[in-house]
Amino acid sequence: MYRVGIIGLGSIAARYSNPSDPHPYCHTGGIRQCEATNLVAVADLSEDRKTEFKETWEPSFPDRSINYYNTDIEMLENEELDIIAVCVRGPYHFAVMQNVLKTNVKAIFLEKPAGCSLEEIDQMTTTADENKIPIIVDYSRHWAPHLLRLQELVAEGLVGQVKSVIGYCPGTILSFAIHNTDMICQFAGYNPISVSAHINQSNDQVPEGYEREPSIIGSIIDFKNGIQGFHVGDPGTKSAFSVDILGTEGQLRAGYARSATTLYNKDNKLVDNTKLDLPPNQSVFKVAYQQIVSYLEGGNLPHCTQEQYIAVNEIGFASIESGLTGQTIEVPCQKRSRLIYANG
Ligand SMILES: NC(=O)c1ccc[n+]([C@@H]2O[C@H](COP(=O)([O-])OP(=O)(O)OC[C@H]3O[C@@H](n4cnc5c(N)ncnc54)[C@H](O)[C@@H]3O)[C@@H](O)[C@H]2O)c1
Repeated sequence: MYRVGIIGLGSIAARYSNPSDPHPYCHTGGIRQCEATNLVAVADLSEDRKTEFKETWEPSFPDRSINYYNTDIEMLENEELDIIAVCVRGPYHFAVMQNVLKTNVKAIFLEKPAGCSLEEIDQMTTTADENKIPIIVDYSRHWAPHLLRLQELVAEGLVGQVKSVIGYCPGTILSFAIHNTDMICQFAGYNPISVSAHINQSNDQVPEGYEREPSIIGSIIDFKNGIQGFHVGDPGTKSAFSVDILGTEGQLRAGYARSATTLYNKDNKLVDNTKLDLPPNQSVFKVAYQQIVSYLEGGNLPHCTQEQYIAVNEIGFASIESGLTGQTIEVPCQKRSRLIYANG
């Protein structure tokens, strides 16, 4: 069994679901359902959060032997962990990651947004590479079993040669819409070359040293393989977290909701979906932890690691840069120090 620790017991760590949820949308539920992971330690600054966790989740862990800590540092000093889930808010990711990267951990599951600047992301990636620790960034919907299968089918030519991928998702660029940036890349590839975007600036007050986080109106992403990505944002007309994949032989609509899957042939006729034989729903967190375990047992790197989260963040920060300057931004972005208060 792989020993897992969670830092930060908020919504995504534990509060979006409870033990009775068959497909929990949170780390604790995914760790519990993954047969090879054991939650051995959790840390949170707040007593209330720890108490709530103890009452809600602990009874569902058979041996009830979870250790509780007040801070990330306290947990890291007292535990030998194989996998660490970093579930604090964006502005705290960098500091916590510095501490986590000093340990003997074997894989880090880091919540989005990966960091508040490209510099932060560069620095944590370099240290992780030096220590041979993969960072997996949680674009959680990526691991929906039907999307993973559709990703394979599209790569095998389900809609012929992919020409465009249109993603639908409003919201803040790094904290929220980034899920859809990843979904566009899931089908277009993780090799962006330039981004041109329109953005909406917020009026929120942010701590000194930070810039406000804009939301996305729309963007065009050019990929090295010739595919064009289009991000449709505020005000969105379709539900978030879905993409249209347009190819030479047909079109596919795919999204986090499995029922949204719709395939058209090149004559624009609806194709019977049952022929796709898509796998049933499962907790995306269970699937992600299973991929991490499979890597630890000698398998492939999990999805959303290294080149993939780097590409997604290049697009995110290039969208902000483009929106602010009115220019098309080539990636990798030149400006790496822009510090955004990505507090998702
Ligand atoms: N993948 C998704 O769909 C999804 C959804 C929601 C949130 N998130 C991401 O998850 C992260 C957390 O968001 P949330 O809404 O769960 O946050 P939250 O505010 O509900 O919880 C964060 C917790 O971290 C704790 N914390 C902060 N610093 C700490 C430290 N040094 N040591 C121990 N505990 C510490 C806080 O006390 C708090 O309880 C963010 O990066 C957010 O963007 C992802």
